[in-house]
Formats: sequence, C-alpha cells, structure tokens
Amino acid sequence: MLHDSYGNAVDTDNAATVAALDRFARSFLAYGKDFAVIFEAAADDPDCLLARTQGALLGLFMENNAGLALATEHLEAGQALVATGAGTERERLYFRAVEAAARADVTRATAAHEELADSWPRDLFAAKLGQIHYFNVGDATGMRRIAQKTCDAHGETAYAWGLLAFGLEECGELDEAERVGRRAAEMTEVEPWAHHAVAHVYETRGDLAGGIAWMEDRAHTWRDCNSFMFTHNWWHIALFYLDQGDTDQALRIYDTRLWGAPQGDRAYSQDQAGAVSMLIRLSLRGLVLDGRWSDVADEILNREVMYDQPFLTAHYDYALARSEHRTAYEHFLQGLHDHAGTLGAASAPLRHMWLAHALPLCRGIGAHADNDFALAATLLGETRPHWQGMGGSHAQRDLFEQMYLDALIRSGRSAEALPILATRARHGRAWRYMQRSWRRRRRQRAFSRCVRRFPSTAS
Ligand SMILES: [Fe+2]
Repeated sequence: MLHDSYGNAVDTDNAATVAALDRFARSFLAYGKDFAVIFEAAADDPDCLLARTQGALLGLFMENNAGLALATEHLEAGQALVATGAGTERERLYFRAVEAAARADVTRATAAHEELADSWPRDLFAAKLGQIHYFNVGDATGMRRIAQKTCDAHGETAYAWGLLAFGLEECGELDEAERVGRRAAEMTEVEPWAHHAVAHVYETRGDLAGGIAWMEDRAHTWRDCNSFMFTHNWWHIALFYLDQGDTDQALRIYDTRLWGAPQGDRAYSQDQAGAVSMLIRLSLRGLVLDGRWSDVADEILNREVMYDQPFLTAHYDYALARSEHRTAYEHFLQGLHDHAGTLGAASAPLRHMWLAHALPLCRGIGAHADNDFALAATLLGETRPHWQGMGGSHAQRDLFEQMYLDALIRSGRSAEALPILATRARHGRAWRYMQRSWRRRRRQRAFSRCVRRFPSTAS
C-alpha cells in the first residue's frame, strides 16, 4: 500500500504507478496535458484498481469511439478487480462513481462523489470530478458544497481554493468567490481555474475593464494549459471586449486564441462550443462570418460523440443549422431523439431532459439559425426555465437568453423583452446592441417605453 501526493492510500506496491496517478491528477487539476501517462500505468500495473478507473475516465473524456472502447475495457477490468476485493474502500467507491458516470447515471455518480468528499476530503481529484458532474446538470449548490468539503481539508492547496471560488460564483456569492479566487491565484502562479473563477465574478458584476485587466495580466501563465482551459479563458476575455462593443478585438481573439489558437483542439467539444458561442454572439451584433461558420460546422460533423451533454449539443445544433449540410442537420435532430431513447432507467432524468427540453431547445436554436424568429421565440421561451438544468455556467447560458431576446424583438414581441432587458441593464449585462437592433427595425417606441419604465436602461 502506497500513498499519493495528497496522502490518499493507493492499493499498489508500484511506486511508478503512484507517480503516474499523481501526474494525471496534477494535469486534471491544473488543466495540463499530461494525461496519456495513465494508460501506460494501467498497462504496467493492470491490477491497480485506481489506475484502471482513471484509464476508464480518460477514455470517456476522449469523446470518440476509440476512447469509449478503452473506457469499456478498463471498466470491465475494474469490475473483475472489485470482485476479487482489490482496492481500498475509497478506490472502490470512486470506481462506482466513474462506472455510474459511464452509464450517464448522474444521480448515483454525484451521490458517490459526495460520500467520497465526506469520508476522504483529501481526495481533491474526486471532488473536482464531482463538481464537474454538478456543473453539467446546473446544480450550483452541489458545486459549492462539494468544493467546500475538500477545501476544508486542503488549506494549503491552491486548486482546492480555485474549485471553491467557482462554486461560490455560480451560487451568486460574488464577494466571497472573489476573495477565495484571489487567494488561490496568490498561492501559485499557474492556477488558471482560479483566474477563470474571478473572471466570472467580473463578468457577473458587469465590470468589463476590470475583467480584461485581471485576465490579460495572467494570460502568460496559460501557455502550457490544455486546449479547453487556454481557449476558454481567452473566450472570457473576448466576451469582455464584445460587451464593451469592441467586436474587432473579440474577432481577433477568436482568430488567434480561440478557434485559431495554435494549441487548440478543434475536435474537442468545449473548443467547438466556445467557438460556436462566440460566433453566435458576433452574429447577433451584426457581423457576417460565413467562412468561419463552415470551418466549425465541418469539424462538428466529424464528431463521433455528438450527444455528450445537452448544453454542448445545443451549440453543435446551431452550427449545423447554419451550415449547408441540411440533411446532416435533420439527421442530427433525429439522432438526438434516438440517443435519448437508448438511455436506460438509471438515466431517466437525463432522458427526460433530452426529450422534454433539450430537443425543443435545439429546434428553437435551429429556427433562429433559419431566421424563423417566431418559432425560435416560442421554443426558447418554453424551454427557458430548464436551461440551467442543461449545464454550463451563467456566462455560457447567457447565450440562450441573448438569442431569445433577439428572437422576441425580431418577431414583434418586444414587450416581452422589456423586463428581461431591464434586468440585464441593472446587472450590467450585454444588451446595448439590441437597442441598435430595435432602432433598425423601427421599434424605437418600444425601447423608449423600456427606458421610461426602467430608467437604468438609459445609461
Ligand atoms: Fe467560464
């Protein structure tokens, strides 16, 4: 029996396996690239349950058929090991968590992660993965709770504080999120997740200049980050510029630090969703982006795993609807319906989410791409109460609200947009470009009414 760098017992006598597990964990927590080492460790130490479990997890993260096959292989090997009593109690519980996640049984997976955080709060990796599961179903309270448990046992670890900062921000506890995030950033220079959490605070407060300064001062530390973290942090910077009205700078960042980033991975779901999200926001502000749409849509068409999470799938949906591949788009919608049908009883909540809310959202987003704003307004409005449950952060899901507002205004339902715009104005969120849209569409009277009812919108 050996121990990892955080003092958690690992059921192996092979020090090289523990070193590999530590490298894998460090990459996961710091958003690095040193992941493949876990496959070598599982091959060299096939009776180590934790190496098998992490191998399965990495297979799932690969988002392709080869990765799914690897995940299945490691899960089957893990099941055989568990049957012989291998692994510590913590490792067996963690194995069950990953097994549940592979079945899309989020309820069991999060329950197992909570138990891990209660009994082994030094297992920061498990808490981080648990927070991701909560994030993917829009459970901000769960994100905060599980982070707090591990942070209480990890006072010296910046990554634990970064984890807590993001959970706090998603719960709307902005002052505490900023304090905790800044503390994490002071503890170590390379803590991109803490930088990111504080960027969310700036975004939610509408402090665009402050957000740009905070992130650009730290951008040099993201050089060795994986594609998601590098492009997502730059996505946030582009968002700040966009909301300042500087579409040129946002587009420059898109071309050099997002879709055009040398270290980007155009096959990866998060890179694709970030690109689509930025292109839609730029389109809503009147930019014509033809070639860029086909660049992204072509990559999305190559995906082997299309229905990973409702939030991400909604982004693929828009890109395909905007592309010239109409047949592929129809297949995509049918495939979504079919995918939901394959989910078993253990995944019933997710199946319901796909069929009752995600599919109509995708149809609504597709209608917006087709300039059918009446249908888009109806479907986006109907699904609005369920957006949070589809995952993504406040800042990411704001895209859906911007599309909804745009569809309302363009379909002659401006009055319904007024209170939403007023709330946005009060919180400093992007809305001014819609004022221009209104003017173009001779809906100035509706805007004037908005100003009279909500004076803060005039600023
Ligand atoms: Fe973010």
